[in-house]
Amino acid sequence: MSLKPARPALAKAARAALEAMRPALTGGQAQPQAPAREPECPNPECTDGWDLRRDRECEQCRSRKQLVRLRDELLGAGVEPRYLEVEWEHLQMDDNLERIRKGCAVIERVIREGRNLALHGIPGAGKTQAATLMVKAAIRKGFAARIYAMSALVTQARAAWTAREEEERLFERNLPEHMARFRLLVLDGVGDFEAAGKADAQHNTLEFRLLYAVLNARQGAGLRTVITTNLTQKRFAEHFGPQVVSRLKPFSALNMVARDWRERETPLDW
Ligand SMILES: Nc1ncnc2c1ncn2[C@@H]1O[C@H](COP(=O)(O)OP(=O)(O)O)[C@@H](O)[C@H]1O
Ligand SMILES: [Mg+2]
Ligand SMILES: [Zn+2]
Repeated sequence: MSLKPARPALAKAARAALEAMRPALTGGQAQPQAPAREPECPNPECTDGWDLRRDRECEQCRSRKQLVRLRDELLGAGVEPRYLEVEWEHLQMDDNLERIRKGCAVIERVIREGRNLALHGIPGAGKTQAATLMVKAAIRKGFAARIYAMSALVTQARAAWTAREEEERLFERNLPEHMARFRLLVLDGVGDFEAAGKADAQHNTLEFRLLYAVLNARQGAGLRTVITTNLTQKRFAEHFGPQVVSRLKPFSALNMVARDWRERETPLDW
């Protein structure tokens, strides 16, 4: 007979949250989705993906399958659906974005020899979008790459922490090793709760611990990391301190210029 006291509901919720995170910690699999209906193939010689006239796999079907695979891979890498279709050609460019675009064109070199990158700027400056384009460039070249919202990681760690159960603390313990699997990692929105004045002590403690552990593991392995933050460079350094900043080295910081992109859209003519 178990002498363990009944688990409070909070611990149960925390366990459920960790369970939901488990796929990401074991393989970064995309969420299962309803299979999309196969569109008609434009190749008149094609039957079920086979080109009868040429007696080989249908080209059109093959390239469509490749696109579907890439899409699944991007979703599995944490790319938000709204950024799936966005490419550099769609963006209004400035000097910072040109630098990032150039980096993406030589992403192999950036991953092998480049520095880490800190993108800072006000909300809406285009940091997440630019970082996502880096992840896409890396994945297209066959590198393991991943973008994580920092707030989501803190929330998961917080659930595990609240549970105060050894097994559930595995989340925090396994995180650095998990993160070291990606040749390019984006931690999106680091310190954003602090920037918004919404961080409590527990959030800050956990965010610091996760950030330090992940950056330390990646720096040791020579892996490239990109962080985005709404904090200014100065406030970032004050908030996270010299240990975190030194684990980010060597890095370049880019101040994404503040502008409201929506203002540039053509106004609707009601
Ligand atoms: N260079 C750009 N050109 C056009 N629209 C942009 C550009 N950068 C950002 N946007 C728009 O602004 C929105 C916010 O960008 P996002 O990357 O989420 O900002 P941040 O992460 O800095 O808060 C995007 O969804 C996009 O529609
Ligand atoms: Mg963002
Ligand atoms: Zn076909």
